Amino acid sequence: MNEHRNSQRLIVAGGRKLQGEIAVQGAKNSVLPLLAATVLCKGTAVLHNCPKLTDADAAFRILDCLGCKCEREKSVVTVNGEAMCNNQVPDGVIQEMRSSIVFLGAILGRCGNCRWSTPGGCELGARPIDYHLEAFRQMGVEVENDAGFMNCTAPKGIQGARISLPFPSVGATENIMLAAVTANGSTEIHNAAREPEIVDLANFLRKCGAKISGEGSSTIAIEGVKELYGAEHTVIPDRIVTATYMCCAAITRGELLLTKTKQDDLSPILPVFERIGCSVYTYSDDKIYINARKPLSSPKKIVTHVHPGFPTDAQALLMALTTVLPGTTIFEENIFECRYKHAGELGRLGAKINVKERVAVVEGVKRLSGAAVKSTDLRGGAALVVAGLAAEGVTKIGNIHHIDRGYESIEDALHSVGANIKRS
Ligand code: UD1
Repeated sequence: MNEHRNSQRLIVAGGRKLQGEIAVQGAKNSVLPLLAATVLCKGTAVLHNCPKLTDADAAFRILDCLGCKCEREKSVVTVNGEAMCNNQVPDGVIQEMRSSIVFLGAILGRCGNCRWSTPGGCELGARPIDYHLEAFRQMGVEVENDAGFMNCTAPKGIQGARISLPFPSVGATENIMLAAVTANGSTEIHNAAREPEIVDLANFLRKCGAKISGEGSSTIAIEGVKELYGAEHTVIPDRIVTATYMCCAAITRGELLLTKTKQDDLSPILPVFERIGCSVYTYSDDKIYINARKPLSSPKKIVTHVHPGFPTDAQALLMALTTVLPGTTIFEENIFECRYKHAGELGRLGAKINVKERVAVVEGVKRLSGAAVKSTDLRGGAALVVAGLAAEGVTKIGNIHHIDRGYESIEDALHSVGANIKRS
């Protein structure tokens, strides 16, 4: 089954204006730490709006190995961690998804020790976890490297600590939060990440009995409690998926109403679409309407930063859009060292992009033409879909397992608003 999915491609015949309505899925980057957090719950956690993604499936397999009972009924996932009986997960299961590292903080919080495989690099570069490990050490965890594994033990239990992150890492902030909620004493995280997914995690943990304040700001304070119980929670909408569909509307000069989204979380992204010349209207916090009837032009410069800056995860998507906008767009990538691999594939469709280290310069062209291309990573793959919608002729996108990590049936969503796209 997996091999079959891996050999599948997305076939896009470009040139159709998109028009209609798409309900945005729950956020991948929220659901993964939330599923990790269920490890801490002695009781049943119910998560609504869980997107059906291969990364979420990988998280279910980790929960399963730990002995947590996990059930899915459409978009509702129930996890019962009462019977958790194991703190070891086979290497192969851990390696299925890079973000599995976020389970380490939760397992340490629940069990006080854990053997976990060391993550390697990924499509975006080296991806070190030194901030996570240094924070754990400050919390009384001894970390010993052993042939590709980390043996983590806290002989005196996990201790609250005052931690100053060298960079506001999303994953490290989440891992510290998960280890700290049931630690002895209080923890302060300085220079914490401020992304909406951090706020979502804090909201869920609080419903489970955790004492947390300050999430969404640079300082998070956590008072350790004895244990957490289960709770019911709705995963926040995926802001990057919202941005993806906005790019699809813009590049086809179409119009879309995106529902079940959250405009507050999109404040760094919406103004860019307005700058390009799109009309963007927001309704009742959860609906965004975009149309691209007026002539569009380059946004000039896109610089990625931590939240509330422009998100690195939307960089590839906007790059696909700017390939056909009149004028020059300069991209500056400040979060990951190696996040322009999609530029080469966009080039195969006729895009003019020049990459030098952290900067990419896009010269808008009149038209793209369909070709066989390969997804290089999750958002890079989605960027090829965006470009394919506008390219003349047929674009065949391979390696779509990257896209399935983070998009729930992207072809069905786009087909429902008029795109000529299928999986084959
Ligand atoms: C998360 C998101 C990812 C997003 C990224 C930045 C999830 C599952 N993934 O990834 O989609 O692109 O935030 O918004 O939520 N770093 C270190 N040492 C560390 C940790 C990070 O040097 O211990 C560096 C990274 O190499 C990178 C930067 O810090 O250059 C930011 O990484 P981080 O915020 O940790 O990203 P992730 O949590 O991995």
